[in-house]
Amino acid sequence: MNDNELNIKESILVLDFGGQYNQLIARRIRDLGVYAAVYSHKISIEKIKEINPKGIIFTGGPNSVFLEKSPHINKEIYELNIPILGICYGAQLIAYDFGGKVVKSKVGEYGKTYVKINKSSKLLKNVNDMTETFMNHSDHIQKEPNGFEVIANSDTCISCIQNEEKNIYAIQWHPEVKHTIEGEKIFSNFIFDICKCSKNWSMDDFIEKQVLEIKNKCNNKKVILALSGGIDSATVACLISRAIGKNLYCVFVNHGLLRKDEEKEVEKVFNNNKLLDLNFIEVDAKERFLKKLENIIDPEKKRKIIGSEFIKVFEEEAKKIGDIQYLAQGTIYPDIIESGLNGSAIIKSHHNVGGLPKDLMFQKILEPLKFLFKDEVRKVALKLNLPESIVYRQPFPGPGLAIRIMGDVNEEKLNIVKEADYILREELEKAKLPNLSQYFASLSNMKSVGVMGDYRTYDYAVVLRIVHTDDFMTANTVDVPYDILQKIMNRIVNEVKGVNRVFYDLTSKPPGTIEFE
Ligand code: XMP
Repeated sequence: MNDNELNIKESILVLDFGGQYNQLIARRIRDLGVYAAVYSHKISIEKIKEINPKGIIFTGGPNSVFLEKSPHINKEIYELNIPILGICYGAQLIAYDFGGKVVKSKVGEYGKTYVKINKSSKLLKNVNDMTETFMNHSDHIQKEPNGFEVIANSDTCISCIQNEEKNIYAIQWHPEVKHTIEGEKIFSNFIFDICKCSKNWSMDDFIEKQVLEIKNKCNNKKVILALSGGIDSATVACLISRAIGKNLYCVFVNHGLLRKDEEKEVEKVFNNNKLLDLNFIEVDAKERFLKKLENIIDPEKKRKIIGSEFIKVFEEEAKKIGDIQYLAQGTIYPDIIESGLNGSAIIKSHHNVGGLPKDLMFQKILEPLKFLFKDEVRKVALKLNLPESIVYRQPFPGPGLAIRIMGDVNEEKLNIVKEADYILREELEKAKLPNLSQYFASLSNMKSVGVMGDYRTYDYAVVLRIVHTDDFMTANTVDVPYDILQKIMNRIVNEVKGVNRVFYDLTSKPPGTIEFE
């Protein structure tokens, strides 16, 4: 990834030591109007010089700095004359590297912890003398290094040290976590007062810069995009269309595995929309996909069949258009971080990255959202006038409803799951419950006996999945009020033909997955 592509002159470099909140640090800084990028702590000094950040942040992490195998940093970084802020593990690393003492605590500090500030400093300017923070550590700094001074303590630990001359700061708590009441103030002090950044990151700027860049790159060249109806590809479509208009070809492969009315939504926004200048090509491939999926039970096989069929359809359309130079994709920043493409450890190979193979007849890839977090994509999408139904759409797997149907896929089952899912979404959206990250209906492959009116039934069971998650790597089931669940159940068994039972899946991830496939 080349940050210069975005012409970012002032950025904060976040070096990842493996903590859970690392992406949050970058988001908080961006929210303050300064671009921040997350890189592995293994980044070379040359690369840091190339990026030329205004400040560097070391993140937290699960290790102990005094163990040999724990992640360390090339100490030349301290000679670059760039302000550094270490958080949690990052703070301990700074103390350790400069000769201070870091030890395992008898009792760790976890969760809400009050910290007393005992000296005025640039980093903690305007922070209350007694401030509520979020801690999450078992090691701590027992003795500050020479040249550093302690500026805050908790009841049991040194909580913050600084070397103002070198512009190096270390805090034990997590300002990126909202439970730290004055976290934003601390980041603001660091990036504006210490690093001397100016506010130069906003979604308006982003749109303008990207449109200009895409125009320069692709003017008079054809670009193709697989439009799925999801927010990422829809936003990419709007952005590129602003830059090159009719040279953009959006191919919407309707594989018939979409949620109820989803294709109508996509058509409404992209087909013959006078405000949007682009070519919209809808391919009705419903029968083709259903045929390929006949009698296929294994979800992995379904995924493979759908993936390869999708590429075939897409390639056929590309051939018809001819002379395409660029393939546009809706890759976003977490996809890149999670796939290890910015040099961080591979967490998982994300579905979107390389969703379409890169050698797919096209020479070049265009990924204008690859610098953005999801909530930033939402801001861009709203500024580009995408409707809220797309902007706030529930996450949806590429293989669609095929994997939310257990066993073989057929038209009857597709209809059932579409209707049940629609009812679930309608009721939950009405109920406006907090903390719902993802919710949908799946169809079990189980039929059982029931009774409706005076008749015996032998019908399917629908499974409801409603989860809260921060990062989609782990998830918990939501404690939905019983009356809401009961209403959903009632409506599904009454309104959806072929269903006589509704189950609520209580399984967390792990051991389950978010999808029920
Ligand atoms: P799991 O089921 O792995 O899902 O816990 C985590 C998140 O990823 C979504 N998901 C997908 N997204 N293509 C996607 O773009 C896929 O093939 C796919 N499979 C799962 C899932 O909906 C959840 O949000």
